[in-house]
Amino acid sequence: MIQKIEQLLAEIENLQAGNAEELEALRIKYLSKKGAINDLMADFRNVPAEQKKEVGMKLNELKTKAQERINTLKETFANQDNGTNELDLTRTAYPIGLGTRHPLSIVRNEIIDIFARLGFSIAEGPEVEDDLHVFTKLNFAADHPARDMQDTFFIEQNAEDVTKNVILRTHTSSVQVRGMESIPEPPIRILCPGRVYRNEAISYRAHCFFHQIEGLYIDKNVSFTDLKQVLLLFAKEMFGNETKIRLRPSYFPFTEPSAEMDISCNICGGKGCAFCKHTGWVEILGCGMVDPNVLEASGIDSKVYSGYAFGLGVERITNLKYQVKDLRMFSENDIRFLKEFESAN
Ligand code: PHE
Repeated sequence: MIQKIEQLLAEIENLQAGNAEELEALRIKYLSKKGAINDLMADFRNVPAEQKKEVGMKLNELKTKAQERINTLKETFANQDNGTNELDLTRTAYPIGLGTRHPLSIVRNEIIDIFARLGFSIAEGPEVEDDLHVFTKLNFAADHPARDMQDTFFIEQNAEDVTKNVILRTHTSSVQVRGMESIPEPPIRILCPGRVYRNEAISYRAHCFFHQIEGLYIDKNVSFTDLKQVLLLFAKEMFGNETKIRLRPSYFPFTEPSAEMDISCNICGGKGCAFCKHTGWVEILGCGMVDPNVLEASGIDSKVYSGYAFGLGVERITNLKYQVKDLRMFSENDIRFLKEFESAN
């Protein structure tokens, strides 16, 4: 009996099966009711009492080993099956679950491309900023009312000294300040895209965060005419060659003179519609000549250098291009909305 068991043990250790059918045949041969091991079990009662312990242990060992071996072979087949499923070379390539670019990314990239052709390079900076870069160095005095215009989110608020506040940036002009600080001498020509935060009630037309692209050019003899030319070119590239611009006087602490720029409404072609409130014009950005105080605050000699700056909201431009009626759509990750921009990718 022991000999028989030993022989089966040796057989089982070397069991091989080429496919699932062969494996099943082996299972029947060894482990089924009429299999070899069960036959031995049936013979067990004929084993002399003094050998029962030893034979019993061997038999159990044989049964476990056989089970283990069959299971291992089974797993090999299971894994191979998975492998072939993943690599089904006969599958067609479509439809595959390709994502689409977010509309704000599409428009941001388009804007960046236009200004890159004019020699602007990208600059980025932190979203959690100090007061110095968001306000103080941009000519906002400590008690300047314009600080309240930009409903700021505070991370750390210092009651005695506002310049020690830590905040979420309310505009990417902070990156322009960092750009000015980091160069030994102009020229500087940078574009600052990024997310900004303002503490506003969320509705279809306002959100507590949005995206900006601001531009800054500082050199010798930069004039308002240069600014106007660049903005006109941008408007035509972005909205079509027939687009007109107009500049209205405005106020920003960091620019003097300052202006807001309108473009002829690209939805009605300037005839007047609900989008442009029947004026034929829509505002798209703020701009102006960099205030000498701002240059000096970042160590640039305002007697030698001058510059212009502008800032626009990416959501606003995207709305104009694609007429998205509810700003909240941009941050809700609704795949149905995002899929609408598939062809614009
Ligand atoms: N920083 C301004 C804003 O966030 C936009 C701006 C930038 C205006 C540069 C003028 C010049 O509203």
